[in-house]
Amino acid sequence: MNPRRPVILSVFGTRPEAVKMAPLVKALAARPDLDARVAVTAQHRQMLDQVLDLFEIIPEVDLDLMQAGQTLESLTARVLGQLEPVLEHHRPDLVLVQGDTTTAFAAALGAFYKQIPVGHVEAGLRTTERYNPFPEEMNRRLISQMATLHLAPTETAAAACRKDGIAEEAIHLTGNTVIDALLQVASNLPEQQAGNGRTLLVTAHRRENWGAPMEGIFAAVRAILEARPDVHAVVPLHLNPLVQEVGRRHLGDHPRVRILPPLDYLPFIEAMRDATLILTDSGGVQEEAPSLGKPVLVLRSTTERPEAVTAGTVRMVGTDRDTIITETLHLLDDSEAYATMARAVNPYGDGRAVERIVEIIRWFVGARPDRPEDSFTPGARPARA
Ligand code: UD1
Ligand code: UDP
Repeated sequence: MNPRRPVILSVFGTRPEAVKMAPLVKALAARPDLDARVAVTAQHRQMLDQVLDLFEIIPEVDLDLMQAGQTLESLTARVLGQLEPVLEHHRPDLVLVQGDTTTAFAAALGAFYKQIPVGHVEAGLRTTERYNPFPEEMNRRLISQMATLHLAPTETAAAACRKDGIAEEAIHLTGNTVIDALLQVASNLPEQQAGNGRTLLVTAHRRENWGAPMEGIFAAVRAILEARPDVHAVVPLHLNPLVQEVGRRHLGDHPRVRILPPLDYLPFIEAMRDATLILTDSGGVQEEAPSLGKPVLVLRSTTERPEAVTAGTVRMVGTDRDTIITETLHLLDDSEAYATMARAVNPYGDGRAVERIVEIIRWFVGARPDRPEDSFTPGARPARA
């Protein structure tokens, strides 16, 4: 009889987790010495399914938890409660979670309660402000306390894990799997068409930006378009009803705005590639755009992703209407300032994060004897351009 293969259960539920876990769950499934399974909470429904379809992932478990207007409390409780029988049934040797969402936090807690080791993909991101981003900063810190395997994307993130008192042996510098996902998808992009004017790509959804900050963001976009008649805006709106309402109220009737539903990952990467400039409060977009050589103005006051800011391709501008207008017009008008930011850099990954993580997991579950020593070195050429 064959010995039982180690069971690796990946748990995720939102769009960004799905993008960042997709290449990893595919690679784990391809390993004959591992039994890789996927449980989705469906904290997001449509936005999760978009990614599952693209990467052809069929989860073993789908908790189908999303409710319109869900609260942090109810969602956390439902993930925890409904994951318990899943953990009982599948008896994983390792549970993988990604990032900082409610799904990641509650799944890590559920696994911890069962004394199942947790591997944390994208460990060590910190702003050091407990309410910013909310609740993600606290989710990350709490997951770090519960995890056994800390898969840090960058040296800054690895250093934050060490500062938390995590043993060096448990920290691995892998690069971010978002670059693996991006490179896999980018090879299927259609040719870029000749442009018709300049385009801003705008996304905003963060909880701490709800209310006045989000009003400021969308009001600024309108004012920028009024000031520069050749500029268009592409605005794929998050399905959160609060975001839909503000975005449509400010921009819905503007002739040079294309309000879109959330784009599938491939067309979204195409929209990033084709944009002149990206305005966003998204974490993942901040990580992807530098690889595409697109300047990003980040609509937040803090960042847990300082690397591209240091490299000069990402700038923090906050959510004040007038500051967003000034900073955006500066980049649109000053070709030297624009050129300085529009350089392709890869501070977040080289496309080999997944390969590294698979080997770390194999070592962790005893499928290989030696601890892998290959680490991500920023600045190295990506695996595939
Ligand atoms: C969540 C994450 C955030 C992440 C973001 C990515 C938490 C606390 N927040 O925020 O870290 O950056 O996802 O997008 O985990 N909705 C739909 N369909 C969808 C997705 C969402 O209708 O496919 C609507 C629902 O009404 C839902 C609401 O959006 O209740 C909010 O979704 P939720 O996952 O609670 O929060 P996000 O703001 O998406
Ligand atoms: N994204 C997408 N379609 C869109 C907007 C974003 O596929 O219309 C992708 C984007 O490329 C990135 C991820 O979604 O990989 C980021 O998700 P989001 O901004 O929702 O969450 P965050 O990264 O801020 O947690």
